[in-house]
Amino acid sequence: DWTMAEFRAAKIAEIREQVGKGRVICGLSGGVDSAVAAVLIHEAIGEQLTCVFVDHGLMRAGEADQVVSLFRNHYNIPLAHVACETLFLEGLKGVTDPEAKRKFIGKTFIDVFEAEAKKIGGAEFLAQGTLYPDVIESVSFTGGPSVTIKSHHNVGGLPERMNMKLVEPLRELFKDEVRDLGRELGLSEAFVGRHPFPGPGLAIRIPGEVTKERCDILRKADAIYLDEIRNAGLYDAIWQAFAVLLPVKTVGVMGDGRTYDSVCGLRAVTSTDGMTADVYPFDAGFLTRVATRIVNEVKGINRVVYDYTSKPPGTIEWE
Ligand code: XMP
Repeated sequence: DWTMAEFRAAKIAEIREQVGKGRVICGLSGGVDSAVAAVLIHEAIGEQLTCVFVDHGLMRAGEADQVVSLFRNHYNIPLAHVACETLFLEGLKGVTDPEAKRKFIGKTFIDVFEAEAKKIGGAEFLAQGTLYPDVIESVSFTGGPSVTIKSHHNVGGLPERMNMKLVEPLRELFKDEVRDLGRELGLSEAFVGRHPFPGPGLAIRIPGEVTKERCDILRKADAIYLDEIRNAGLYDAIWQAFAVLLPVKTVGVMGDGRTYDSVCGLRAVTSTDGMTADVYPFDAGFLTRVATRIVNEVKGINRVVYDYTSKPPGTIEWE
């Protein structure tokens, strides 16, 4: 039986052995996995690590600032904050197919990393917070035939031209173990307990075309939903909760006027590893309160629906 303290020590030795005197860049997504990977690698090799936060403009409200301050101020780990919203949004113009979105975002991440690696005089290694379920799900569906459900942008290796080796210290771990490791490394409970957030960000929570305007609408609705979940003391009982902005307009009435605006979907699930999930059974009063707030406070949304699909057959994200 491994304790997390032993796992930490063993991984640190392994990272030192793999990396030697080489330079490593690590992509931060704002999530727990990449943060834990970065802190662990920093402990192993210190200044040989540079973190890159690719701010693709597809983050939730306030998230970019939280990541930057956690790393720069709290950990004092060198961090390149690359603001590249335009690059991502331009490239996503007209893209509606979920796999095409994922592939574009994955490829563009790599392009940005490559440019950052050049700036620090080249890096031999790329670190990622890939978990065991990411590895499994991008290869085959558990227990079923070998089909790709979704191409996770952080799995599947690197383009040949990149010529970098991967450092993936969390590849054998499940999410709850990564959280334990994070605690072991001294990350705050609030950070470690954060809900998972996918690398492609809000792009896969906006079925249809992704635009700056739609990202802004979704950010507002999502913030209200999460705010109500926190106020109700439900955040830690839920594996993941988020809003989705649908490419469907419906008719409504507000005041004495007709509205014709987008539908917002709400999702909340319980899970232990993200591979299967159950719908979180909010009471009707809670959902009504959230729906009312979203429609009243977010311009562009006039109807809210709740997703009652478990995984399988649904996936947690909508794309
Ligand atoms: P699905 O939607 O496949 O998601 O049921 C399972 C878990 O994985 C997260 N997810 C991702 N995480 N890159 C990530 O880092 C991705 O491309 C990606 N796609 C899904 C999802 O949020 C859920 O926690």
